Amino acid sequence: MCGIVGYIGGREAVPILIEGLKNLEYRGYDSAGIAVADSDKVFMVKRSGKLKNLEAAINESGISGSLGIGHTRWATHGAPTEANAHPHFGKTREFFVVHNGIIENHQQLKESLKREKCRFNSETDTEVIVHLLEKFYTGDLKQAVCRTVKKLKGSFALGVISSRHPDLLLAARRDSPLIIGLGKGENYIASDVPAILSQTRSVIYLENDEIAVLGRDNAEVFTVNGDCCNRRPVTVKMDPDSASKGGYSHFMIKEINEQPEVMRRILSARIKNNRVRFEELKLNEKRLKNIDNIQIVACGTAYHAGLCGKYVLEKLLKIPVNVDTSSEFRYREQIIKKNKTLVITVSQSGETADTLAALRASQQKGALILSVVNVVGSSIARESDGVVYIYAGPEIAVASTKAYTAQLMTIYLLALYLGEVFGTVSERIRREMLRMLARTPLKMKEVLANNGRIKRVARDYVKRYNIRLAEQFKFLEDEVAQFKDSRKALEFAEQWARRSHLTYGRRFGDFPFLYLGRNVNFPSALEGALKLKEITYISAEGYAAGEMKHGPIALIDEFPLVICINPRSSLYDKMLSNIQEIKARRGTVLSIATKGDREIRKKAYSDYIIEIPPVNEFVSPLIVALPLQLLAYYIAAGIGCDIDQPRNLAKSVTVE
Ligand code: F6R
Repeated sequence: MCGIVGYIGGREAVPILIEGLKNLEYRGYDSAGIAVADSDKVFMVKRSGKLKNLEAAINESGISGSLGIGHTRWATHGAPTEANAHPHFGKTREFFVVHNGIIENHQQLKESLKREKCRFNSETDTEVIVHLLEKFYTGDLKQAVCRTVKKLKGSFALGVISSRHPDLLLAARRDSPLIIGLGKGENYIASDVPAILSQTRSVIYLENDEIAVLGRDNAEVFTVNGDCCNRRPVTVKMDPDSASKGGYSHFMIKEINEQPEVMRRILSARIKNNRVRFEELKLNEKRLKNIDNIQIVACGTAYHAGLCGKYVLEKLLKIPVNVDTSSEFRYREQIIKKNKTLVITVSQSGETADTLAALRASQQKGALILSVVNVVGSSIARESDGVVYIYAGPEIAVASTKAYTAQLMTIYLLALYLGEVFGTVSERIRREMLRMLARTPLKMKEVLANNGRIKRVARDYVKRYNIRLAEQFKFLEDEVAQFKDSRKALEFAEQWARRSHLTYGRRFGDFPFLYLGRNVNFPSALEGALKLKEITYISAEGYAAGEMKHGPIALIDEFPLVICINPRSSLYDKMLSNIQEIKARRGTVLSIATKGDREIRKKAYSDYIIEIPPVNEFVSPLIVALPLQLLAYYIAAGIGCDIDQPRNLAKSVTVE
């Protein structure tokens, strides 16, 4: 949440900051701003809304300088207005701060600062930081930052500049990510690697309660007490092209299409001579053999991958596996057996605040922590006892797609690996499973190549939706007629339509979606519903099909679209019974079925069918994910939603 970038060097800072912010926009996009120092003056531009608003304002302002900080915001405290956008400044307008995180004691700090006659310009928690800086500044900026940081409770990544020190860029962090990028005669700060990847690959990951002091030619890291830390840079291996759309209209569809390649990458890295190997996993087998229960913690899509992992791990390891959302787990009584509970955290970003907190709580109780993470060097990766990376490459679209299937594939392989360590998976089963998993890239390719059917289903749905919308318009005819000016009438109608699109799911809940699945595909149902909700704002629920009769069946009439995930499996007939129960109540059914399944083709069973290639039921979630992602994508595209940056969401949820 919120993206930070900063530059100090000999070049013009503005384009570097703008490029960095563009690459960080997935972290927040409700307002943005930059502050740039030119000799002893600092110029600032902020705008509410998307980054393009800021860019236009900067172009008009003509500001320039070779030191600067920038910020793209995801609002926590205070509406997404220009006044609440970062950077923030104090009374003297000499200090400028960008911040990611939440200052939990900001109310107390604000009260005491107000008593000292500080006047606040915004409703943010961040502004207290800059007033504290002013208060503590006695000529040494580093010292002022150290004293300020000591007063703060909560999480923060900070970038600081001051007109008093046009040759310094300062940064600090606690529980929010921040990296230092090192160049020749120039240095950077950023929330995440993609922001500065086109500038440098040499980075230092700042640790909690560390302060970085950057000049053009030097970068030093200190503790909050001012002691020097000897931090070594690491070289980041990431292809800058992987963070571009590469000809696709959205990052999401690009990332959906990357999945066969991601699977291939994981399989070839992990399978050696018919055995699964995790070279970076620094957990010795003796410690792993002690494990007698597993707890998975994750959020959102990663939680769904973890939920599928429960089925897989329990089947192959024969030990109990619990799965929890991190936000619930962290505040519960965690039942951890010292050295016997393996906690697996799953996280694309490796920075999700709740997952990180759940990890730390488990670690304190003596659990062994293994993390399944995408972003190399992220906080969760660094704080775990062992880490396995999912090799999905940068995922930019807010709605997770390739990271989900990469998490699934990695968990399948992890289960096989642990099965070998525990001695619960025979060589025959292992070979058979590996053969099935090895077919995943080809099967995914087949789904992607036959996406025409999914597009047609989505188009049909959007048509029905638009007809419904037009019907709603009829109610407006009188209202529209009262406008004498036809242009005004049109404007009104258009505004209404846009509002209605955006709030459709809530105001006209005639077409909600219900996703049903069983066993390993119950998590697929949850994930399908989440994808649709996120990018179309249409109300959607995922349910275990067996739970239908316990409530959700009350929703059924001809309006909701019920998506039944029913590839050939041991529970195929049970799903058919559920489908018949829906049809008996005039429900509309879309079945995800195995290619060539004649039975489901019978009209009584399904109104729409999307076929997937034949696949073993145990590994079918890997394939089922794709039509669900594509369906959500094509519906969102048909309605005209902002697919890569859905409202209210951010890619990396670094606040709880
Ligand atoms: C949904 C989505 C989110 C994330 C969740 C956890 O498409 O992307 O639900 O899965 O915020 O994020 P990570 O995996 O970064 O911990």
